Amino acid sequence: MNAFQLKNGQLHAEQVPLNQLAEEFSTPCYVYSRQALETAYRDFQQGFAGVDHLVCFAVKANPSLGVLSVFAKLGAGFDIVSGGELARVLAAGGDASKVVFSGVGKTADEMRAALTAGIFCFNVESAAELERLNEVAGSMGKIAPVSLRVNPNVDAKTHPYISTGLKNNKFGVAYEQSLALYQQAAAMPNIDVHGVDCHIGSQLTELSPFLDAFDRVLALVDQLEAAGIAIRHIDAGGGIGICYNEETPPDFAAYAAAMLKKLGDRKVKLVFEPGRALVGNAGALLTRVEYLKHTEAKNFAIVDAAMNDLMRPALYDAYHQIAEVSPDATPKEIYEIVGPVCESGDFLGHDRELGLKQGDLLAILSAGAYGMSMSSNYNTRPRAAEVMVDGASYQLIRKRESISELFALENVVKD
Ligand code: LLP
Repeated sequence: MNAFQLKNGQLHAEQVPLNQLAEEFSTPCYVYSRQALETAYRDFQQGFAGVDHLVCFAVKANPSLGVLSVFAKLGAGFDIVSGGELARVLAAGGDASKVVFSGVGKTADEMRAALTAGIFCFNVESAAELERLNEVAGSMGKIAPVSLRVNPNVDAKTHPYISTGLKNNKFGVAYEQSLALYQQAAAMPNIDVHGVDCHIGSQLTELSPFLDAFDRVLALVDQLEAAGIAIRHIDAGGGIGICYNEETPPDFAAYAAAMLKKLGDRKVKLVFEPGRALVGNAGALLTRVEYLKHTEAKNFAIVDAAMNDLMRPALYDAYHQIAEVSPDATPKEIYEIVGPVCESGDFLGHDRELGLKQGDLLAILSAGAYGMSMSSNYNTRPRAAEVMVDGASYQLIRKRESISELFALENVVKD
């Protein structure tokens, strides 16, 4: 669903005009649509109806307690990559027994926290991690449920920074070595070999890399069965892209149908780790034009959001649509939309045709994934407020940071 639409000449989030939210909570401000989150989650699940499956929202895409609690209430699982994310999931009411723990660098403390909470599975990414997990679990008198994250050496055809399934990436266990490592894992006293895991990258806009990777995973599952190692779940990772501009990512139904066809009659639970596809288009970043500046080469609209609030354009040259919140008859010009941070890389959009006046509000769309979660305090800028809209109502789910909070943990040097 498109939660951000013009109604009576004003851009709304569901039934709430964005200018009302800007008045009440000021800018920059992230706005999320609860209906869009719920619809995306349900649509994703729909394709797997009748099949044993678990959808684990990838917390890194948007770790806000408000967002996590919406998914927790729907019964979602969660994909975490740190002890901090585990704590957030539990604080948001998430069920530990539906948590998968990914990531190449799990510390012993993080393993202990996850074993204490009783998570569903560790996605182990190396032989050394497997050994550490076996030791930590043994010291606690527990058995750790494990999948190995295998690296299928498949090109996800996405931005190199967010492609993870190729041989030269730091992620996962090389496909060719995985059978031998599974055999070692099966012999470890405190490890319960439970599944096979794979995640090849993010913002994938084609089905074929998913299917190629899944083929390789299924071949491994069959080899493991033949070697006497029974696999109870397959975690196909996340990565389904969204439309930022003109991309045509696979729809959930097509993805599910193609994966189920490949699965055939194998009796395993399917686990998925979608992040962006569940939250990306459910969020927008609301910002106000501080100044217009016309130079010989360019027109700049200097807005009050910056690369510290939404890093994706600066980091990946990512495109986000930028919409006027209250479109009027102001003549349109081509603008660079830039923030106040002291770097030339601080832009939110290039060459946008907009009719702007000082004080106008803009909505940077498709900002629900990897927006707030990658924000920082660079230039000592407090991070934005976050608001959850639900129909005609809304609530503040994160207060804007105050300046004193930014250095509350710091000390001046004593004489
Ligand atoms: N599972 C694992 C193991 C992951 O590493 C990721 C994302 C996901 C699931 C979720 O992927 P998604 O469904 O959201 O594509 N900051 C970048 C994206 C980094 C993705 C990292 N891993 C961006 O803004 O595009």
